[in-house]
Amino acid sequence: MNKNPNTGFILIVDDNPTNLSVLSEALNSEGFRFRVAVDGESAIAQSERNQPELILLDVQMPGIDGFETCRRLKVNPVTQNIPIIFTTALADMDSKTKGFSLGAVDYIPKPFAQEEVIARVRVHLQLKQLTGFLEQQVSDRTKALQQAQVKLVQQEKLSTLGELIAGIAHEMNNPISFISNNILPLKEYTTGITKLLLLYKQEYPNPTAKITTAIKDLDLSFVLEDMPKILSSLQLGSERIQNLSNSLRSFSRSDSDAKILADLHLGLDSTLMILQHRLKANGDHPSIEVIKSYGTLPQVNCYVGEMNQVFMNILANAVDALDEAIMQGKMSNLIPQIQIATEIDSEQLVIIRIADNGVGIPERLKKRLFEPLFTTKTVGKGTGLGLSIAYQIVVEKHKGVLEVNSQPGVGTEFIIKIPII
Ligand SMILES: Nc1ncnc2c1ncn2[C@@H]1O[C@H](COP(=O)(O)OP(=O)(O)OP(=O)(O)O)[C@@H](O)[C@H]1O
Ligand SMILES: [Mg+2]
Repeated sequence: MNKNPNTGFILIVDDNPTNLSVLSEALNSEGFRFRVAVDGESAIAQSERNQPELILLDVQMPGIDGFETCRRLKVNPVTQNIPIIFTTALADMDSKTKGFSLGAVDYIPKPFAQEEVIARVRVHLQLKQLTGFLEQQVSDRTKALQQAQVKLVQQEKLSTLGELIAGIAHEMNNPISFISNNILPLKEYTTGITKLLLLYKQEYPNPTAKITTAIKDLDLSFVLEDMPKILSSLQLGSERIQNLSNSLRSFSRSDSDAKILADLHLGLDSTLMILQHRLKANGDHPSIEVIKSYGTLPQVNCYVGEMNQVFMNILANAVDALDEAIMQGKMSNLIPQIQIATEIDSEQLVIIRIADNGVGIPERLKKRLFEPLFTTKTVGKGTGLGLSIAYQIVVEKHKGVLEVNSQPGVGTEFIIKIPII
C-alpha cells in the first residue's frame, strides 16, 4: 500500500550506485515515488521538464558539483521553489554553511541512516505542502479582498454621488417652482394687458403723435404677438427642468436602503432622461433612437436606487457600443437603436431586455464581461466596473438573473430578470 499518497515525486541526485540504492530502498520502503539523476546537469534538465516535490542532492559529483547544481536550480524561476536537501559525507561546518547559503533546506550526512532520511524527507514534504497551501490561501484571500475593495469603493462613490444628485435636485426645486408657478399668472396678466391695449386702440383710434411714435418704436403689434410665444417656451423649459429634477431625484433615491415596491418603468425612463444628452444628434454623430415596448408590470419589490444603477450601466454601455460602431463607420446604412422591452413571465419574473445594434461582443470576451475591472475601453473611458456592479445587484442582492446575448457586428442584448417578490 502507498503510505504517501503524494502525487509528486522525489528526485535523487547521486553518482554513486551504492548511495542510490540505499536511498531508493529507504524511500521505496515508505511508499515515496522517486526518480534518479546521476549528475547535476541531468538533474537540472529533469527538474525543468517535470518539477519534483523535493531534491536529495549529492555534493561531490563529476561535472558540476552539488553546490553549483543548487545555485543553478535556485536562479531558475521554474525550479527555484523546489526544496533541496544535500546528502554528503562532508560533515565539516564550511560546506554545511555553504549549502544553506545557496538555499538548501537541510543536510543529511553519509553514511545514511534510513530512519533519518525518511524523517527529514517527510518533514520537508510536509513543509512544502503547507507552504503551497498557505500561498494559495493568501492569493485567494487577496483576490477576495480586491473584489470587496472594488465593491466598497464603488458603493462609496455611488452613495456620495447619489446624495449629491439628490441634493442638487432638491435645491433646484425651489427656483424652478418660482418660475413655473409664476408663468400662469404672468400669462393671464399679459393677455389682460393685450386686451386692454386693443380696447384703447378701438376707443381712441387717433392717439397723440407722441403715442403713435412710441407704438411704432416699440413695434407693438410684433411684441403683442411674440409675448405669448415667449411665455410658452418659458413654460416648456421650466417643465423640462422640473422633469429632469424629478428624474434625478427618483434616480438617486436616497431612501432605497431597504427594498420597496417600485415601478421599474419609472426607473428606466429617468435613466433615459439623464442619458438624453448622449442620445441626441451631435455634429456628424446621428441621434440614437430609443424604442420602448413596455408591457404591463406590477410594482416590484427592489432596491430602487440600485436597480437604476443597473439600468444606467447597461444603457451607458449600449450607447458606448453604438458610438464605437458609428466611429468605425459601421452605421452608415443603419439607424443606431436601443430597444427596451419589458414583460412578466410565467414564473413571476420581471424581464427587462436592453438591446443595441452596436459593435457586439466577441465570443472570447463574453465570459469575462462581469469580472471586476474587465474593460475594452481606453483609460479614462471605462473602469470595467459597470457590469460587475450590475451583476452583484441583480444576482446577489435581488436573486435575479443577468444574461447577455451578442453577435459581433450585429449587436448585444442584456436580459435582466428580477423576481417580483
Ligand atoms: N452593449 C455592449 N456592446 C458591446 N460591448 C459591451 C456592451 N456592454 C459591455 N460591453 C463590453 O463589456 C466590457 C465591460 O463592461 P463594463 O460596463 O463592466 O465596463 P466598462 O463599460 O468598460 O467601464 P465602466 O462601466 O466601469 O465605465 C466593456 O468594456 C465592453 O467591452
Ligand atoms: Mg460600462
